Amino acid sequence: MQQEPLPVIAFIFNNLMYGLFMATSSIINFSTLSLSGMNDFLKSDPRGETAKEVMRILVQCMEAQTVVYVYPSIITTIVLIIAVSTIVKNITYMNETIRTHGQIKALSVEVMEALAHTIDAKDEYTRGHSVRVAKYSKMIAEKMGLNAEECENVYYMGLLHDIGKIGVPNEIINKPARLTDDEYGVIKKHPVTGFDILAEIKTRPDLATGARWHHERYDGSGYPDHKTGEEIPLPARIISVADSYDAMTSNRSYRKYLPQDVVRGEIEANIGTQFDEQPARAMLQIIDEDTDYMFHE
Ligand SMILES: [Fe+2]
Repeated sequence: MQQEPLPVIAFIFNNLMYGLFMATSSIINFSTLSLSGMNDFLKSDPRGETAKEVMRILVQCMEAQTVVYVYPSIITTIVLIIAVSTIVKNITYMNETIRTHGQIKALSVEVMEALAHTIDAKDEYTRGHSVRVAKYSKMIAEKMGLNAEECENVYYMGLLHDIGKIGVPNEIINKPARLTDDEYGVIKKHPVTGFDILAEIKTRPDLATGARWHHERYDGSGYPDHKTGEEIPLPARIISVADSYDAMTSNRSYRKYLPQDVVRGEIEANIGTQFDEQPARAMLQIIDEDTDYMFHE
C-alpha cells in the first residue's frame, strides 16, 4: 500500500505517540502478565482467543500502517538506545570525575597539612600551631555565617599562613633569648616570603591572602603593608584573631598557656585596634561555648 509522505510535525507526533503507546503497553504487559495475573487470564480464556484476536488486529494495523508506525518505531528504538547508552556513559563518566575530583581535593588538603607540619616543625615551641590556627579560623568563619566554600578556603589559608617562616633561619626562630632588631626584622619578612611562595600556585592565587596580611592590624599599625580596616582581606582578619588566640593558648618556653578569662579579656580589649570586631566577637562566642576550656595546646 502506497503511503503519502507525512508532514514533519505529523511524523514527529506519530513517533511520540507510538513511543508513548509502546511504553504504556509495556507497563500494562508487565503488570498484567505477573504470575497470578497470567493464571487468571488463562482460566478466563483457555484457548487464547483474546490473544489471537489482539494479534490479528495488530498484524492488520502493521500491514496497513507500516510507514506510519513501523519505521518511526525503529527510529524511536534506535534513538532511545543511543540516548540511554549516552546517559549511562555520562553517568559513569560523571561518577569517575567526581571520584577523581574528590581524590585530588583530599590529596591537596593532605599536601597543605603536610606543609603546615613542615613549617611548625621548624619551631620547637609552636608545634601544631598552623593546624590549630586553621581550625580556629574555620570555626570563626562558620560563626560569622560564611558559606561552606569560604569556610574551607579560610581553613586552607590558615594552614599556610606562616609558610614564609621556611625562609627564617632556625637559630632565629628558636632563639631562647630576646631577639635583636635585625633578627626581628628577618622574622617580619615571613608574610611577604609566604605570599611570594603561594603566589606560585596560579590556580588558587587567593591562598596567598592569609599569608601576606595576617599580621596587619585593624588600626593600620601592623605589617607588612600597614593596611587598615576592611582594606585587610576578611580571611586575613579572621586568621589574625585565630593566630593571636593560639599564641595565648599555647605553651611557651617561659610560660604555660594563659587562663581562658585572660585570653578572652585580651581579645575583647583589642577589638577595633588589633582586631576586626566581627571575627573577634565570633571568637568570644567560641570561647564562651568552650566551658571546659578545651581549645588550647
Ligand atoms: Fe605569622
